[in-house]
Amino acid sequence: MARLVALLAALALGGAEALAVGRTSRVVHGSRGAARMAVTRAPKAGSAVVNGRTVVLPKFSEECSYTGITLTRYMIEFARANPELAELESILASIQTACKTISTLVRRSSMTGLVGLQGGGGSVNVQGEEQKKLDVITNDVLKNALKFSGKMATLASEEEDAPVALDEDDNYDAYRPKDIVIEEGNKYIAVFDPLDGSSNVDAGIPTGTIFGIFDEGDQTCVVDEGLPLTAAEQECLASTLRPGNALIASGYCLYSSATHFVFTLGAGVQGFTLDESNGEFVLTHPDIMLPPRGKIYSLNEGNRWAWDNALRDYVTAIQKGEGESGVAYTSRYIGSMVGDVHRTLLYGGIFAYAGDKKNVNGKLRLLYEAAPMSFLVEQAGGKAVTGLHRIMDIVPSGVHQRVPVRTRRARARAPVSYTHLRAHET
Ligand code: AHG
Ligand code: MN
Ligand code: MN
Repeated sequence: MARLVALLAALALGGAEALAVGRTSRVVHGSRGAARMAVTRAPKAGSAVVNGRTVVLPKFSEECSYTGITLTRYMIEFARANPELAELESILASIQTACKTISTLVRRSSMTGLVGLQGGGGSVNVQGEEQKKLDVITNDVLKNALKFSGKMATLASEEEDAPVALDEDDNYDAYRPKDIVIEEGNKYIAVFDPLDGSSNVDAGIPTGTIFGIFDEGDQTCVVDEGLPLTAAEQECLASTLRPGNALIASGYCLYSSATHFVFTLGAGVQGFTLDESNGEFVLTHPDIMLPPRGKIYSLNEGNRWAWDNALRDYVTAIQKGEGESGVAYTSRYIGSMVGDVHRTLLYGGIFAYAGDKKNVNGKLRLLYEAAPMSFLVEQAGGKAVTGLHRIMDIVPSGVHQRVPVRTRRARARAPVSYTHLRAHET
C-alpha cells in the first residue's frame, strides 16, 4: 500500500509541477537525497539540413534521473549521430569549461579585485575601447581552452588585433612521440567575444561570452611562429573569415542570476543551465523558439536623435500600440547583447542595434557578435537583418567589421513597417 501511496504522491507532485512549469517535468530524487526538479524534456529527435549540411539530432531514449541531460551527454550523443562532426564534442567541452571558469571569475571579481580597467587604464583594444581587466583575462581563458582542444587552426577575438594562427606545436601535446603521426581530424576556426557587455561587469549587470565555430575549409595560412605577421599573412588569416551561413556551431554563455549555455549546431537551439551543485550544464530549455509575438523592444533609446526617420517612427508606433500587433510595447535594454538577446529568445519582441548618424554601421561586430547570434535567432524561428541584408549572408571584409543588427520573430509576411526600415551600410 505504502508503495502505491508513494507512487500517487510522486505523480501528483509531478503533475502539479508540470502544470505550473508548463513543460513535462519530473520530480527527480537527486543523488543527494533531496528531491530536485529536473525541468527537462528530451529535445526533438530528427534531422535538419543547414547550409547544405545534414545535421542529425541526437536521440535520448533514456535519461539519468539524477543528472537530467547534461551538455556533456548531449555532445556525446551528437557526436555519435554525426561522426563527421564528432570533433565538436571536444570543442564544446573546451568552451563549456571556459564558460564555467569565466562565470566564477565574474561572480567573484568584486572580492578578487578583478574589477576596473586593465593596467589601471590606457589599455585599448584594436577597436579603440578601454579594456577591463576581465576583458583580457577572459580572452586568455577562452583562447587557452580552444588551443588546448587541439582542434583549432585559427582564433579571432574581439580582444585580438588580428586572427591568431595556431600551428601544430600549439595543438601538439608534448608527450606524443614525434614519429607517430596520429590522424589529425579537421581544423576549425573559432571566433569569440570573451566578455560581452563588459562595461556592465563591475556593476554586477549580466554579461556573456559569444562564440562561433567554422570548419577551416580549404584556406590555410602558414605563418612564421613568433614573428610579427607580414601583411600577406594578415591578409591570409583575414581571408579565413567566413559569412555566418558557413557557421557549423554558435552560442553564448550568460553570466546572470544563473549561468546559461545556449547554442545551436544547425538543428535548433538548446539551452542549458549550470547546476552549481555538480558543475554540469543541464538541459533546461530544449528546442528554444522565439514566441510568435512579443511586446518588448530592446535598443538604446539614447541614440534616438541619431536614428533615421523610419526607425524613429517605427519605435513610436510600437510604443503607442499602433504597430502591426496593435499592442503597446515596453522597453527592456541592459546593454549586454547576450542578456538582451537571451531575453528576446525566451520572451519574444525585438532586439536591435541599428546604424545611425553617429555610427552608420551600428556598433556590433559582424564576425563574433552579430553572425553567431543571428545563427541562433534564425534557428529559433527569427530573422536577423541589417535592415537591408540577412546578416548571415554578409562576407566579413575584416575581423572587426561592424554591422547594424535587427532581430525579431520571422513571419510569413514581414510587416511593411519592419521591412520598411532602412539601415545605412557602406
Ligand atoms: P562588448 O562589451 O563586448 O564591447 O559589447 C558591448 C555591446 C553589446 O553587448 C551591447 O548590445 C552594446 O555593446 C551596447 O552598446 P551601447 O552601450 O552603445 O548601447
Ligand atoms: Mn560584445
Ligand atoms: Mn567584449
